[in-house]
Amino acid sequence: MAVFSKKSKEISNDFSLLPNHLGIIMDGNGRWAKKRGLPRSAGHKAGANVFRTICEECADLVIKYVTFYAFSTENWKRPKEEVDAIMALFKDYLLEAKRDFVKAGNNKIKFIGEREGIREDLLALMDEAEEETDSHTGTTVYLAVNYGSRQEIVSAVNKLIKEGKTEINEKDISDSLYTVPDCDLIIRPSGEERLSNFLLWQAAYSEFWFSDVLWPDFKKEDLYSALREFEKRNRRFGG
Ligand code: FPP
Repeated sequence: MAVFSKKSKEISNDFSLLPNHLGIIMDGNGRWAKKRGLPRSAGHKAGANVFRTICEECADLVIKYVTFYAFSTENWKRPKEEVDAIMALFKDYLLEAKRDFVKAGNNKIKFIGEREGIREDLLALMDEAEEETDSHTGTTVYLAVNYGSRQEIVSAVNKLIKEGKTEINEKDISDSLYTVPDCDLIIRPSGEERLSNFLLWQAAYSEFWFSDVLWPDFKKEDLYSALREFEKRNRRFGG
């Protein structure tokens, strides 16, 4: 398959195989800002803009599910100023979406993570975004906010115990997670090569794509490179 279209010399996006569920760890915002002598919040702001671009691109490509790791259960340990800046960016994004849910596209917005600890005004906007986009049939964008995968698995098991289960199987756990299907490809930029408590259960047979590019510099061409690599992977699922 041609990677460059002769006519436009642009990288083509005609993929023969796309991941059903793509996971993205948005990493490197802090280092991007530091390199420029800017506060970390400036890196997160630039990262939020890249999030918007990549969301649109996933929708154009018709990727069914994409999960962005936006804020982990461990990220509360960061300085209050930085946490507040990230929460303000979520709010901006949600207010923007609220202004025009229909024009915002056909994407379905969903949140995964613990609600406890998140401000009431944000929770209300999150609920509204989920409700307003529930009938959309395009890409489901999962935003992992106050998310930790170990905690997700523990909650799933506790839920099953409450339901009276005394013995469980894999399907029981899968069905009790935050409704994310198994992940096919995980992208992590910024040179780090670890999962950091992201989709541990769902990533059992996931492929990985790492790159040194910092998230605020991540372009749709980087997404294409990851997807091009994914097409070539020989997935055997242990068989
Ligand atoms: C990791 O980079 C990034 C985060 C912990 C926050 C990610 C948040 C955003 C991209 C903004 C999200 C906004 C919307 C609207 C979804 P880091 O800070 O750990 O970077 P570093 O490793 O270089 O320090």
